Amino acid sequence: MSELSVNHLLGIKYLTEQDIELIFETADHFKEVINRAIKKVPTLRDITIANIFFENSTRTKLSFELAEKRLSADVINFSAGQSSVKKGETLIDTVNNILSMKVDMVVMRHPNPGAGIFLSRHVKASIINAGDGAHEHPTQALLDSFSIRERLGEVAGKKVVIVGDILHSRVALSNIFALKLQGAEVKVCGPRTLLPKHIESLGVGVETDLRKALNWCDVANMLRIQNERMEFSYFPTTREYSQQYGINKTLLESLDKEIVIMHPGPINRGVEITSDVADSEQSIILDQVENGVAIRMAVIYLLASKIK
Ligand code: CP
Repeated sequence: MSELSVNHLLGIKYLTEQDIELIFETADHFKEVINRAIKKVPTLRDITIANIFFENSTRTKLSFELAEKRLSADVINFSAGQSSVKKGETLIDTVNNILSMKVDMVVMRHPNPGAGIFLSRHVKASIINAGDGAHEHPTQALLDSFSIRERLGEVAGKKVVIVGDILHSRVALSNIFALKLQGAEVKVCGPRTLLPKHIESLGVGVETDLRKALNWCDVANMLRIQNERMEFSYFPTTREYSQQYGINKTLLESLDKEIVIMHPGPINRGVEITSDVADSEQSIILDQVENGVAIRMAVIYLLASKIK
């Protein structure tokens, strides 16, 4: 297969296993490119991309911008906080005004689930979802699976546990879709209050005992508590959460086998993960960030090739 089955990247839910394979093969090539002395290719000199962020971001925003520049695309950046959105302009008006400047592709982060889907139905541009509320974060899941493949050789057959605030996490949902599509076994682990009802219907196991979950898995993906999406208290105290669902070096070293530790960032050191685990040899957290650029170059390149 030489092209994606989709014209937008709105969620992993809309991809096929072959799409993911194609993105990974393309990312393998771009990872080699970004490790050369000259890290740039002229491939997308005729493409203009707008990064529009209605929510805070460090990794995703910088990674997309770098990926676009490595491909020689023209890039414009928009942050809602400093824009006319503050004066009441709607999402469609905002984006159509940006598109009238001859923009080909929009990378959007938005607090509302489905914002990218909505946009793709109303504007003429290729849309990449850079995180929509608690719904999906497809490029994060792609870079996570790519990093597992890099460390363990393949994703199929691997046991992955996603730990923490599953209820409010777009990373968890996109990871579940991506890992299942590639043949991994997936469990979620956290307090009952932070596990969505009926999560088993997605084909994942549920474990509330962190030690049992870690002894089962090959890979543990530790998630942050999404305080910004919480209206109520879901556990008594942060200290108690950390004691029951945080990973520290003593716990890691007491397990039956050596496991891989992941985290999408931003990390709350001392809450879901201690510094000695985050910075250990078993952690691939910074590999995930590095791979994010290659994955996003691959996604942009493959979607851009469908525009012409
Ligand atoms: N992982 C992730 O999406 O991080 P940012 O919120 O910093 O982009």
